[in-house]
Amino acid sequence: MNPADQGHHQTNLQAGIRQEQGQSARSRNTFSDRPGFDDHHLDQHQQHHGSHSHSHDHGHSHDHAHGGHGHNQDHGHSHGHHGSLDDDDAVHEETLHFHKIIKAFSQYKASAMYANHRRRTDFYSLPERQQKMLPTYLKRMERIDDAIEANYEIIKIICEDQQIFVNDDRSTAKLDMNERAKNAAALRVREQDMEKVQGTIKQFVRDWSAGGKPERDAIYEPLIQELRTRFASVPVEQRGGINVLVPGSGLGRLAFDIAHDGFSAQGNEFSYYMLLASNFILNKTQRINQFKIYPYIHSFSNIVKSGDVLTEATIPDVNPSEIPRGTDFSMVAGDFIEVYGMEEENYGKWDAVVTCFFIDTAKNIVDYLETIYKILKKGGVWINAGPLLWHFENTPNEISVELSLEEVIELAKTIGFKMEIQEPAKSTYMANPHGMLKYVYECARWTATKV
Ligand SMILES: C[S@@+](CC[C@H](N)C(=O)[O-])C[C@H]1O[C@@H](n2cnc3c(N)ncnc32)[C@H](O)[C@@H]1O
Repeated sequence: MNPADQGHHQTNLQAGIRQEQGQSARSRNTFSDRPGFDDHHLDQHQQHHGSHSHSHDHGHSHDHAHGGHGHNQDHGHSHGHHGSLDDDDAVHEETLHFHKIIKAFSQYKASAMYANHRRRTDFYSLPERQQKMLPTYLKRMERIDDAIEANYEIIKIICEDQQIFVNDDRSTAKLDMNERAKNAAALRVREQDMEKVQGTIKQFVRDWSAGGKPERDAIYEPLIQELRTRFASVPVEQRGGINVLVPGSGLGRLAFDIAHDGFSAQGNEFSYYMLLASNFILNKTQRINQFKIYPYIHSFSNIVKSGDVLTEATIPDVNPSEIPRGTDFSMVAGDFIEVYGMEEENYGKWDAVVTCFFIDTAKNIVDYLETIYKILKKGGVWINAGPLLWHFENTPNEISVELSLEEVIELAKTIGFKMEIQEPAKSTYMANPHGMLKYVYECARWTATKV
């Protein structure tokens, strides 16, 4: 698409909503009005068969302690597997969860300003003599205030489209005191919710800024190269006929890059933090480097130069509407297993499944692998890169099956995949390039063929 055309294809998201009839996915919410996206439409569809997809955090975030990928995301919770709530309750609970996340985004400015205020107050508590020894400290706080404002400008746009993600007409007027109290508790924003908002800001850098290129080159690029190699016999202009699914797609850059390369790509994601933010980047940005963000202002630890906390990133570094003609690009909201793995008519549909820093989000890795196997066409490939930082390890009230890499590979073979293991790739995940602490993952990589 000619970049000069960008913006003309932007349609009002709400106007673009259409109910999808006869769709078998249990919980699907496809959005994008970008050209090249799924019919240039926003599709909203939520079937409530007791397996309503749900994004719930479980009240823990290890991001700081582990520097780990994904611990900053909210975790999935499926009513379908528990069957304890009826359909209405499930929808309602989902809606509450969604509103809590909007509330967390909305409280970002107040919360970040408060943290800065705390720093100032602590500084003023020092004896004047000591304050004078730190002449630039307060000046930096002023600049941090401005950076918070800049981040909040994006967050305000992120929150604009809330209505496209929820579907609950239950009137609060009908609620009794108990239910109101329960709702209030469910809507309480906690520190870990705010950390997830901050993590979302950092994820913009990984996925949509020039600063994230080293991480993308280390991990996304080899995955895309492997796709090109596996489908080398298909002429580039016919790649749109090859359907690639990217579960756990985060802010959608890998899926976008795959689509940009000509393949038809669908991202799947269940965290509302990610869904709201990817809706912003994919549907609401009009030009390269349109927005400035400040991802590192929330922690002053492990900083070398004082200016480094104020490192800015500009997003997006590419125009998200530049998808070749004949290529589909869509994002589908919902739990991977529930959306793709529950109904036989969805099986055997995909030419490739590409997972990146995803498989360790499983509570039950066998479910993930079996689902990938089922939904691939015969001869289709699963291309994987990532570590095994089991997200639910030690999470109260959740099952978590934590396998070694050897065991995952053996399991894949048992399920029926032919495994080709590649050299591990070293990569950080959302690391501050200037920071004094960086976790480097030795990401396992393989291509598994459904024989
Ligand atoms: C560690 S992040 C990786 C994101 C992206 N692939 C990347 O490499 O930057 C894992 C993502 O998977 C999502 N996720 C986890 N479990 C999921 C599930 N069952 N269904 C869909 N998405 C899921 C999380 O919300 C998170 O955005």
